[in-house]
Amino acid sequence: MNGMLLTLDAPETADREEFRNAVIDGLTRRPRAIPARFLYDARGSALFDEICELPEYYLTRTETRILAERAGEIARLAGPGAALVEFGSGSSVKSRLLLDAMNELSVYTPIDISRQHLDLSAAQLRRDYPGLRVEPVCGDYMSLRSLPRATENVRRLGFFPGSTIGNLEPADATAFLRGARRLLGEGGALILGVDLRKDERELHDAYNDSAGVTAAFTLNLLRRMNRELDATFDLSAFAHEAFYNSEAGRIEIYFRSLADQTVRVSGRSFAFATGERVHTEYSYKYDLSGIEGLARSGGFRVTEVWTDEGRRFAVACLRAAP
Ligand code: AVI
Repeated sequence: MNGMLLTLDAPETADREEFRNAVIDGLTRRPRAIPARFLYDARGSALFDEICELPEYYLTRTETRILAERAGEIARLAGPGAALVEFGSGSSVKSRLLLDAMNELSVYTPIDISRQHLDLSAAQLRRDYPGLRVEPVCGDYMSLRSLPRATENVRRLGFFPGSTIGNLEPADATAFLRGARRLLGEGGALILGVDLRKDERELHDAYNDSAGVTAAFTLNLLRRMNRELDATFDLSAFAHEAFYNSEAGRIEIYFRSLADQTVRVSGRSFAFATGERVHTEYSYKYDLSGIEGLARSGGFRVTEVWTDEGRRFAVACLRAAP
């Protein structure tokens, strides 16, 4: 019985420890920063789902429209018998647009860090696509070394939607693409969702929505630290801050202290001056030459770019360069 409890408890304890170390390290160094992946606890993930529905947050809606329009073309590019490999699949909502069009797929491999997400979405996919072979991989797609055997000896089509690549700093985006290139192999291709550079007002509003959901998403990190790390953040004494840095071509997101204050985290004290901020996210925006440069740096070449009529968002097809 004890042994079983230990195995069940282990991942949670390890996650908590990783979170604690990242927070202590991030609040100790200057400039202060906490990695964006910690925004996604259960409440953070639910808030992000709400963000995707906001009128100002055009990204999800626009990408979904492009994918729905182009799914047939993407299926033809993959050809019969291909494997679809999704990096960071979550609940596999967008991949269903491709799966609906790819009825000759040999296997679908969703990759996700969350075992719970994977098990649930694999079960739902097997129910909804009875002829489809689903071979999930639980792991971090940034460091994954191999794919299931079922994807060997067939053409592999990667799928990385949602402009998640924009949350990676350019060097990490290149490292991701190189890893994906290795996994997808010669003859492989990657369907990549990328948010495009545009009018600054529109970008600003997408990360400063009038309903305050994005602010709640950022401040949820403080709530998570209070709950999991015995922290004493007063949520009313910090504010969400997001702006477009046009020189760097990215949205920058922080939480900012509204007073001189001291906060305890896991038994340690951290002083915040009024106006002092902690970085939580970058969201890089690309233009077409930026997408080409990124693809090249990762060992791919761009063969197709599909956009919406407002040129807000791009879905690109990258082919593995020989
Ligand atoms: C997940 N990712 C693509 C979102 C973005 O737009 O960069 C995360 C986000 N953060 C605040 N709003 C949305």
